[in-house]
Amino acid sequence: MLDLILFLPQGMKTSLKERLDLKRLPTHVAVIMDGNGRWAKREGMPRLFGHRAGVQSVRQITEACAELGIRHLTLYAFSTENWNRPVLEVTGLMDLLVETLRRELQALHNNGVRLKAIGDLGALPEKTRRALEEAVARTNDNTGLQLILAINYSARWEILHAANALAAEAAAGRLVTPVDERTFAGQLSTAGIPDPELLIRTSGEYRISNFLLWQLAYTELYFTSLFWPEFGKEQLYEALLDYQQRERRFGKTSEQLA
Ligand code: IPE
Ligand code: IPE
Ligand code: MG
Repeated sequence: MLDLILFLPQGMKTSLKERLDLKRLPTHVAVIMDGNGRWAKREGMPRLFGHRAGVQSVRQITEACAELGIRHLTLYAFSTENWNRPVLEVTGLMDLLVETLRRELQALHNNGVRLKAIGDLGALPEKTRRALEEAVARTNDNTGLQLILAINYSARWEILHAANALAAEAAAGRLVTPVDERTFAGQLSTAGIPDPELLIRTSGEYRISNFLLWQLAYTELYFTSLFWPEFGKEQLYEALLDYQQRERRFGKTSEQLA
C-alpha cells in the first residue's frame, strides 16, 4: 500500500482534507461519540481510561471543524439514560467533564469557540453545572465554531419540554394555534441553530439513542465501526467526503435537482 502511494504521480498524492469541497461542507455536524468502553476493554484498561482517550478525539474533531469553518458541532457527551451506569463511571464522567472544561477552556476561548450546553442541566451535580455555565458565559461573545455539548440530554425530554412550554403559553392565551414547525422548533434547546446536515456515530452501532429526534428529520447518517477514541481528523475528513457524495433530495426526484 505504501509503495502504491509512493509511486503515484505527484498530483494524485492529495490528502483527504485537500479532496474536500470547502463550498459544500455541512454547517452543522452532530456526533454520537460511542465505543469508549469497548475500546478500553480491548486495551485491557478500565472504562474510564476509554473516556479519557475519548477526550483526545473531542479535541481533534473540534479543532478540525474550527479549521474547516464548520459553524456548529454538537457532541453527545452524556444521555439521560447514562445515569443508569455504575455510580463510579457516572461520577468519573462528571469529574472528567469538569477537569476537561478547566483544562481546555482557555484554548477554546483563544480559538474563538463558543460553547453551548443542551439537556436537563438542572439535574447535574452542582460543580459540573457550574463549570459548564462558566465556560458558556466566558465564551459567549466568540464568533467562531459553536460547540454544543449535549449533557443529560434526551430528545424526548426536549420535545416534551417544548410541548409543555407551548401548552403553558396557550393556557395563558398568548399562543396562536395551530402551532407550526417554526414555533415548535423555537422552543427546542437548539432554537436558532440549523438542523445538522450530517450525523456521525462511531462504534458500529446503528441507532439514534434518543438524540436530536426532531432535528435529525432529514440529516445524512454516517456510521463507522471505529471506536470513538480511534476517530480523529482523518476519519472526520472521510465522513465529510462521504457526505459530499450524497444526493440530498428532500423528497424530490434526482432529475428535479439537476
Ligand atoms: C460513549 O462510549 C461515551 C458515553 C456514552 C458517555 P461508551 O461508554 O458508551 O462505550 P461503549 O459503548 O460501552 O463501548
Ligand atoms: C449514546 O451512547 C450516548 C452518548 C454517546 C453520550 P450509549 O452508549 O449510551 O448508547 P446506547 O445506550 O448503547 O444506545
Ligand atoms: Mg456506548
